[in-house]
Amino acid sequence: MRCWTLSLRLPTSRVAQRTAQLQTEVRARLQAQEDLQRSEDLLKMAGRMARLGAWMIELPHRHMVWSEELAAICEVEPDHIPSVDEAIGYCATQWRATLRRRLDSCIADGTPFDEELQMITARGRLVWVRVLGQSVHNADSEIVRVQGTIQDITEKKQAEADRQELEARLRESQKLEAIGTFAGGIAHDFNNMLGAILGNVSLARGEIGADHPLQVSLTQVHRTAVRGRSLVQQILAFSRRQPQAFVVQPMRPLIEEAVGMLRPMLPAMVRVETSFPNAPAWVDADSTQIHQVLINLCVNAWHAMQGSTGCIQIGLEIIEDTPGTAAGSGDGRRAHLWVRDNGSGMDAETRARIFEPFFTTKSGHGTGLGLAVVHGIVLAHRGTISVDSTIGRGSTFHLLLPLAPAPADEEQVWLPSARGELPSAEGRHVLYVDDDEVMALMVERLLQRSGYRVSAFQDAAAALETVRAAPESFDVAVCDFNMPVLSGLDFARALGSIRPQLPVIISSGHLPEEAQVEAVRLGVRGLLQKQNTFDELDRLIRRVLAQATS
Ligand SMILES: Nc1ncnc2c1ncn2[C@@H]1O[C@H](COP(=O)(O)OP(=O)(O)OP(=O)(O)O)[C@@H](O)[C@H]1O
Ligand SMILES: [Mg+2]
Repeated sequence: MRCWTLSLRLPTSRVAQRTAQLQTEVRARLQAQEDLQRSEDLLKMAGRMARLGAWMIELPHRHMVWSEELAAICEVEPDHIPSVDEAIGYCATQWRATLRRRLDSCIADGTPFDEELQMITARGRLVWVRVLGQSVHNADSEIVRVQGTIQDITEKKQAEADRQELEARLRESQKLEAIGTFAGGIAHDFNNMLGAILGNVSLARGEIGADHPLQVSLTQVHRTAVRGRSLVQQILAFSRRQPQAFVVQPMRPLIEEAVGMLRPMLPAMVRVETSFPNAPAWVDADSTQIHQVLINLCVNAWHAMQGSTGCIQIGLEIIEDTPGTAAGSGDGRRAHLWVRDNGSGMDAETRARIFEPFFTTKSGHGTGLGLAVVHGIVLAHRGTISVDSTIGRGSTFHLLLPLAPAPADEEQVWLPSARGELPSAEGRHVLYVDDDEVMALMVERLLQRSGYRVSAFQDAAAALETVRAAPESFDVAVCDFNMPVLSGLDFARALGSIRPQLPVIISSGHLPEEAQVEAVRLGVRGLLQKQNTFDELDRLIRRVLAQATS
């Protein structure tokens, strides 16, 4: 038998050519696969970063497909394939009907949709999503598919809500600021009026004699006006119309004054106890601001008692700092002031936020500004504030303020000291200028009663003319700061050019800091807070005169 072998022989060159061709194809395919993988990875990364998932519903069987990222948004396993109904079921109840309607009309007539709605994930988290959908047609214009995206926009929604809340707070704080300015303006006028009432009542009481039957009524008027004045001064302090007046002074009287203001505000079932060290704690402080700190802390303490009986303890002690940690006192000693209550206390979350402006747990009742103001004041005094608190056991606020060295003569710079005797100024000639008629009349009578000769003017220009005519006849000039045409500073400047040696005192309800600096530059010898005129003017004049002659 003969065997035939068929040998297929291709020329060697063609084999090599084909092999090279196949190798190129394989390389190209591998490259394409790699590119595809890379582009898929990029797409996944983009989806993950944008929290953007995709979905598709094949028609007519409504077979659903979704991307890994969409499964992640719904918090289900990546390979889980849901039915259309199951997918719609992830919508929060109130949105389900809307989404179903949008999907149905997209399937029916191709209407695209764009909805923001809330979904509940498989793990029960509520998330905000934006759902987009559109239809895909075949060559015969039949809808064969609807598809779209779902993006998790919870963070954006949260940021939007935060912004809206901030805007609302801003509006509220602007309103408060306007009320503060308005109340401050009124309080400023009231303060002066009450000063005049108090002065005149005191003059009248002095004139009618101690046994006069009207003394009882006048005492009541006096008491009520004093109370009114302390309320008005609180409004002034809050609206910041009081001048910042840092004075080296002992802490104890400041605390006692604040407690005096607080007592009428607190209900009888809230006790206030104080404890003080033996030595005076001198601090460089603005008394009105320290009052405000104590009032805010004590009012919070009272609120924390939630209507039951309680005790607020205010204590003061001098502490020695670890070397090198003192806040400016130089000798490492500080005043430690504490306010303790046995109220509700705070949890850690509340404690962490109490100094934030607008943070309050008294919804509808508190502004959340109280402790923010306290914090600002303590910082302005170069101090620190901290709090210890336990739920159900109360809270203690600790304030540390740098001690200031006690002044050599224990006298204050601007205000007359309550200590030490000053020589009598009887018969000395005082020039008093105030455009307020009531004030001018009252001060004239007040000073006359103390034995001065007084020339009172409501018109600063007329007063200057009188001084120009007889410059040597006056011993001291007292003028209001806030006058029309010529301010107190202008008046002091003009007096300086007529008779430079004449001591000048400026009286003011509110003297801005820059005006204080200017007053010092002009050589003004004393500043008087107008509401203290009755109690302090005589003493300030005597002190200024004593300095002028020494
Ligand atoms: N002594 C305290 N005991 C318990 N919680 C306190 C105390 N002091 C402050 N807090 C908490 O700190 C929050 C902020 O206090 P803050 O004084 O700043 O504002 P407020 O008291 O809420 O409002 P406002 O001071 O305007 O009345 C309070 O809402 C309260 O939750
Ligand atoms: Mg408060």
